[in-house]
Amino acid sequence: ADPDPLQDVCVANLNASISVNGFPCKPLPEVKSDDFFFDGLSQEGNTTNVFGTNVTSADVLAFPGLNTLGLSVNRVDFAPGGLNPPHIHPRASETSVVIKGKLLVGFVTTGNVLHSKVLKAGEMFVIPRGLVHFQLNVGKGKALFLAAFNSQEPGIVILPTTLFVSTPPIPNAVLTKAFQIDEKVISAIRSKLGS
Ligand code: GLV
Ligand code: MN
Repeated sequence: ADPDPLQDVCVANLNASISVNGFPCKPLPEVKSDDFFFDGLSQEGNTTNVFGTNVTSADVLAFPGLNTLGLSVNRVDFAPGGLNPPHIHPRASETSVVIKGKLLVGFVTTGNVLHSKVLKAGEMFVIPRGLVHFQLNVGKGKALFLAAFNSQEPGIVILPTTLFVSTPPIPNAVLTKAFQIDEKVISAIRSKLGS
């Protein structure tokens, strides 16, 4: 989904002072093979949190060699019962492959139809850009999956945190009406999500 590159390589200079759509390129003579290598997805993420999952991103910020290439990858680790909560990527479609375990994956269309499926190792699913989706570990043990994106920086809007623990908070009057709940429920959600 990102714009096409205008040169062979454009390793991101993350420290440049100019601001563009993406990052300016590191000077070519300084480009090394290691700029195209990233080992940050080799470690299991820490899933000790309320959701029981951990997302590790190989996006342009972590892996500057991806700059201008329109792709990136996430590693998602799941504790037993772990949930990657409903979220949106504003800039990318996502296709994922289960490496280990059993996951219930799903997305909801703008017509409010849920498409979902239980996947095991080696199986894939695709999430069209901008749609709300989730993954729940429904297997007995841990689970692991890799998600590829057609953007160097897909972005993520995590609905529970966006709605309930933004800074500053969304006024209670909005949330009580939107979800037809009273303020006590909102406070309970906020404190569980760590605000
Ligand atoms: C999974 O949906 C992810 O965005 O990593
Ligand atoms: Mn996703």
